Amino acid sequence: MADDNTDTKSSNQMWGGRFASGPDAIMEEINASIGFDKKLFAQDIRGSIAHATMLAHQGIISADDKDKIVHGLNTILSEIESGNFEFSRQLEDIHMNVEARLATLIGPAAGRLHTARSRNDQVALDFRLWVKEELEKTEQMLTGLIAAFLDRAEEHAESVMPGFTHLQTAQPVTFGHHCMAYVEMFGRDRARVRHAIEHLDESPIGAAALAGTGYPIDRHMTAKALGFREPTRNSIDTVSDRDFAIEFLSIAAIAGMHLSRLAEEIVIWSTPQFGFVRLSDAFSTGSSIMPQKKNPDAAELVRAKTGRINGSLVALLTIMKGLPLAYSKDMQEDKEQVFDAAESLELAIAAMTGMMRDMTVNTARMKAAAGSGYSTATDLADWLVREAGLPFRDAHHVTGRAVALAESKGCDLAELPLSDLQAIHPDITDKVYDVLTVEASVASRKSFGGTAPSEVRRQIAFWRARN
Ligand code: ARG
Repeated sequence: MADDNTDTKSSNQMWGGRFASGPDAIMEEINASIGFDKKLFAQDIRGSIAHATMLAHQGIISADDKDKIVHGLNTILSEIESGNFEFSRQLEDIHMNVEARLATLIGPAAGRLHTARSRNDQVALDFRLWVKEELEKTEQMLTGLIAAFLDRAEEHAESVMPGFTHLQTAQPVTFGHHCMAYVEMFGRDRARVRHAIEHLDESPIGAAALAGTGYPIDRHMTAKALGFREPTRNSIDTVSDRDFAIEFLSIAAIAGMHLSRLAEEIVIWSTPQFGFVRLSDAFSTGSSIMPQKKNPDAAELVRAKTGRINGSLVALLTIMKGLPLAYSKDMQEDKEQVFDAAESLELAIAAMTGMMRDMTVNTARMKAAAGSGYSTATDLADWLVREAGLPFRDAHHVTGRAVALAESKGCDLAELPLSDLQAIHPDITDKVYDVLTVEASVASRKSFGGTAPSEVRRQIAFWRARN
């Protein structure tokens, strides 16, 4: 029915609610980025001050205009910082909001700031500066997280726990060794961060719209003023490149994956069934209906944040994948992905640093679990190779029979009487009991990078010197 009497008015109304006023409202809504890119205000102003200073130095604008511009920009900076700035959506983005305000503050001189510049190199600069600072913050936060793990590892260099493969008890390890596995992971993340900082350390400003400029600018001067190593070399690439943002997201996704694995382990370890750790009240919640519960909410949310970060990485890769060189407006969609991922990553690292520092480790539960599940079976096989001269394959077979016997008797390997063991292989002596304890098992694994407390301490010393 409604289809029959569609007229212009009713089809306009179909745009609905806030778009009722028509195309202008839709365009403003889809085009404006000020809602999120106002986050770049400090970088935008820093960039403009460096640009104006260079323009004056090169004689492209007068020293007098430059002074007015710099003074005006500093005024705007404090207005924004103190919450006394009115952002306008009609002015689209942070660049035009700042420039329009500059014009009301200083008059015609404001119009000279945009000489030899485009919003294309301006946004590339602002965003690069923002990502660089975020990478530096991430580097510091990872260092804090690594420090938390080093402290726990040191404290528990000798605490025995079950090591798992397939989440089945495999061989005894120390909790310190397990902690040091995470130090390796977060250490690699931090190395990736440092590498990314090196990659993006080139200044985009001066690429202008895409082709460079005819004005006698000095890109080395602005690069230096803004703390970059050097200017970028190709103006087309400069305004069409968002690799630095994608690299940040890739690093965040990999670190997020590490944090999520840790979160998953904490969820498992803190169950009453495992009981390996007890989370502090600060990082867990009670249930509104089941008074006995203590839920690992913070760990679960870290696990979930990883999903968001992965989403941001895929989103930006997809935004960029079909764009012809150089700038396209699609690229405006880069920022929310990075801002959201950065917030998630910061929170996840902070939560995990706190959780690792605060949690109580139940070494008795860990040790008891380490001894169950025949975790020293490999030690028995190794003893047969070493002391009785058996080939490993035969030793493996003999050990299998010992495990089956213990299983049928409902006891541990160390609890089998010597007569039972000798019935399986006559060369077994009572010396074998020395290797069947979990402590003896971990102490024997002195190979480089192994779980013996002496090796764990060596790993800790290595990382302490680098943290
Ligand atoms: N708001 C834009 C962005 O974030 C700034 C660059 C606009 N450039 C342009 N040619 N329209 O990408």
